[in-house]
Amino acid sequence: MHITRRTFLKTAAGAGLAACLPPLLPAGALAAKNRRVRNFRFKAAPTSVSLGSGPEFKAFTYNGQVPGPEIRVKEGETIRVVLENNLTEATTIHWHGIPLQNQMDGVPGLTQKAVDPGQKFIYEFEARPAGSFLYHSHAKYQLDQGLYGPLIIEAARPSESYDREYTLTLEDWVMRDGGGTARTLRRPPMAHMHGRMRRGPSYGPSEGPLWEPLYDSYAVNGRVDEAIKPLVVTKGDRVKLRLINASSATIYYLRLAGHNLTITHTDGNPIRPVETDVLRIGMGERYDAIFLADNPGHWLLSAYDTGLGEGRLKIPLRYKGSRQKDPNPPSFEQGLRMAEYVDFESRKATGFTNRRRDRFYDQVLGGGMHESYWSINGQVWPLADDLVVTAGERVALRYANHSMMPHPMHLHGHFFRIVNPKLPAERWIAKDTLILDHMQRIDVELDADNPGRWLHHCHNLYHMEAGMANVLTYDLRSHSF
Ligand code: C2O
Ligand code: CU
Repeated sequence: MHITRRTFLKTAAGAGLAACLPPLLPAGALAAKNRRVRNFRFKAAPTSVSLGSGPEFKAFTYNGQVPGPEIRVKEGETIRVVLENNLTEATTIHWHGIPLQNQMDGVPGLTQKAVDPGQKFIYEFEARPAGSFLYHSHAKYQLDQGLYGPLIIEAARPSESYDREYTLTLEDWVMRDGGGTARTLRRPPMAHMHGRMRRGPSYGPSEGPLWEPLYDSYAVNGRVDEAIKPLVVTKGDRVKLRLINASSATIYYLRLAGHNLTITHTDGNPIRPVETDVLRIGMGERYDAIFLADNPGHWLLSAYDTGLGEGRLKIPLRYKGSRQKDPNPPSFEQGLRMAEYVDFESRKATGFTNRRRDRFYDQVLGGGMHESYWSINGQVWPLADDLVVTAGERVALRYANHSMMPHPMHLHGHFFRIVNPKLPAERWIAKDTLILDHMQRIDVELDADNPGRWLHHCHNLYHMEAGMANVLTYDLRSHSF
């Protein structure tokens, strides 16, 4: 299918969007030549759902299910999704991690007008690069109400071999009508100070942004507790896990009993394999990991439970033919290794070579102390300065987290590289989301190669909605299209 600008405009006009399209599209942005088009139809609607155990409740779903359907395509294909909004509020879909063209990025009020109830919108973009991604609504708190799903782009030329593959989408839930927006106990901003509850949980402020809920369950692929489907393996299998954290406010510390986990990809990008005892995954992050099934029995892949009820989950791993009834849990003793970003190295040279930084932006993360707002450089979105760049520049973001909580920061439309002085720049890992711990500083660099207006924010949905966001935008000189 050859898409010209005219047919695109026609399509968009059909979706009632013509008015907010920019006057011109980037040259060649949609010049898909004879690409195979994969068509999907997503109906967003309020739905009664069950997570396999526990009550039925009203959530928001794509096509009646949580998570939404897995999109699985081959690198280079064109993904075309017709979104039909049957909710009573406006919505969009964001294709998290994919450096697509700005008009398809799905941020209401920034890259498109939100799709009103009863309306349709057509998303169309090239599936590139290969890797594990996710999609989710970018409107209000809809992510926490069920509007998300996995998006897998298979490599055109696969470079790894495995016998089985499991996609594990991790989700935090309040099993009540309205999901995360339900009237439920909420964590005040100070709750995590020194890992202890400073003030008791409360219902949170009635005005202003919502505090994060105290979740009552953690789902894997839309199922909780005993309803979580086991990983079933045969002795000798090499098993690939695609871990996708679609949670709104939960970081997981995962450990697999009886086996060694080897991380092979982060945010879709291949790294030199790194063995780890504990795998930490923040909201919006993805990790692919491999393990060799060489220890028959019945085991658990579990998340570390601090006792505060966060991120509890247990995924059974069962060998075919094993009669062991109760699975062995992993132990979380002292001294376990947890692979960190500095331990990762790009598997191949990325072509991202060392050069002078054309721009620096300090990004000081703050807020949360006794207040309901979260900030970058003391500014609260949408009253925040843009990060202005010019196409072709090398841009550095210098993060410093001065707040008490960890923040997984996510940039739309680009991969950034995590600066690692121990490695040449072409081996720095490419990511789109990185966690910053309390008082941690990390520099990232990126090439400004995808003009548009791109949201940059904490992927804790409640921090984003409470101001921890700004916009990376290209200045006029780059609008040569
Ligand atoms: Cu996954 Cu701005 O989002
Ligand atoms: Cu945050």
